Amino acid sequence: MRRRTTPLGLLLLLLGLSTVTQAGDPFNGRTLYLKHCVQCHGEDGSGAVLAIPDLSRGEGLFKPDHMLVEALKQGLGTMPAYQGLLSDHELADLITYTRTLQ
Ligand code: HEC
Repeated sequence: MRRRTTPLGLLLLLLGLSTVTQAGDPFNGRTLYLKHCVQCHGEDGSGAVLAIPDLSRGEGLFKPDHMLVEALKQGLGTMPAYQGLLSDHELADLITYTRTLQ
């Protein structure tokens, strides 16, 4: 007998998909970026000075999201540490936003 997809099954599937595709909220990420990151990385991500990776060209964004969140928590080189300042959730939103700058 052929199994039919129930409306509930379909709903659960859609809910599952939306959590996967929306790991971070790029709109909240933009607000946070303009507040915490723009002074070094620039509004378009290209970096205010040479030593800063050009996010608009994907530089510094090779690692998977959880590793970048970790780098932001610990700080990297002259970039300050955001642990305690921004939540993991806010950092994930920021990473999602920086990926839209390319
Ligand atoms: C004080 C200047 C400064 C601020 C503020 C700053 N950054 Fe950075 N950022 C840097 C520098 C410098 C590097 C390169 C560090 C290195 O590779 O030594 C970097 C690297 C990065 C990288 C690449 C990390 C990696 O693992 O290669 C990402 C992503 C990033 N910044 C995002 C952000 C976000 C998001 C914010 C805001 C929460 C932010 N930065 C705030 C200066 C800054």
